[in-house]
Amino acid sequence: MIELRDLKKVYPSKEGDVVALERVDLTIEDGAIYGIIGLSGAGKSTLVRCINLLEKPTEGRVVIDGEDLTKVKRKRLLEIRKNIGMIFQSFNLLEQRTVEANVRFPLEIARARKTVEKTYKRKGADGKKETVTEPKEVCVRYSRGEMRGRVAELLELVGLSDKAKAYPSQLSGGQKQRVAIARALALNPKYLLCDEATSALDPNTTTSILELLREINRRLGVTIIVITHEMRVVESICSEVAVIDQSRIVESGKVADVFSFPKSEIAKELIIPGLIRSVKSTGGKKLRLVFNGEEADTPIISGLALRCGISVNILYADTKNIDGKTYGHMVIALPEEEEKAELAKRHLKELNINFKEEL
Ligand SMILES: Nc1ncnc2c1ncn2[C@@H]1O[C@H](COP(=O)(O)OP(=O)(O)O)[C@@H](O)[C@H]1O
Ligand SMILES: [Mg+2]
Repeated sequence: MIELRDLKKVYPSKEGDVVALERVDLTIEDGAIYGIIGLSGAGKSTLVRCINLLEKPTEGRVVIDGEDLTKVKRKRLLEIRKNIGMIFQSFNLLEQRTVEANVRFPLEIARARKTVEKTYKRKGADGKKETVTEPKEVCVRYSRGEMRGRVAELLELVGLSDKAKAYPSQLSGGQKQRVAIARALALNPKYLLCDEATSALDPNTTTSILELLREINRRLGVTIIVITHEMRVVESICSEVAVIDQSRIVESGKVADVFSFPKSEIAKELIIPGLIRSVKSTGGKKLRLVFNGEEADTPIISGLALRCGISVNILYADTKNIDGKTYGHMVIALPEEEEKAELAKRHLKELNINFKEEL
């Protein structure tokens, strides 16, 4: 579990201090795919870099599996970092190395903890020398054979076994990110931090990388933190989301909840921008209907017409697929007559449709 507690990060500068994070509290449970969404400059990269202490927080605690990273010694920090993989928008591959050599790199510099049988002589209780064999934990370099096996496994996982000997310059953006993912997973981390990992990719490639991340989460149980400014990234793979605006987390929760009823202005902007722009300015009474995966939208509209004799005008409609279920917003104009408007609302309540009069 990752716990950020009252985190603050200030970048000092000659023109005055820049407060990049303030009062950030976040809990990320094991096994989650946790999204952090916000506009450019909101503090997302700073936040994610504080998780592995690439940036040292000015105040607050970063607690991973019960251990406060701001308090540990450098050597221990390096050990903990092996458990936290990271990928970036710009891939950050070593251009002079082949794909397999890129993936092998973390294995070359790391030492593996291993339990070996150690045999030694000691004086027994009866004063005689005896030979004992005991398990002992040692740090050893990975052997060539181990590295070869692990690299092959990782390339297979990301679907690039046939590109082992290629150089990064010979790969597409999506393939480069796959290499970066394989490299980030080399040491079997429990956590994977993704800073705008799909922001440099086209929509189709984005989809395939997101599918790969989801598979890594499900198959390997890796907890994934996804930093993005794109809501479609969050809606397609995240279970939970935090919205960050001007250095602060302004709301957080289950994706379905936050995306159905965004509370903060910034979340509304990010999540339903078309809605806000196109509908807010028009006059008359309106309802925003929220579909939560069970209902379809058409029977509702025809139901209002047939059962209540109300013809509703759809001002805005947008449905989305989140985690395999259909979610969506629709804004309808209500009849001017109070009675009919009440009738429509009662009908929607009977159907268990969530709606809001405040857009
Ligand atoms: N190394 C740095 N030195 C000074 N200011 C920085 C540094 N890194 C980021 N900032 C500032 O901190 C704020 C948050 O930046 P960042 O975390 O990169 O946001 P995001 O990733 O959401 O775009 C911005 O105002 C940015 O200019
Ligand atoms: Mg950033």
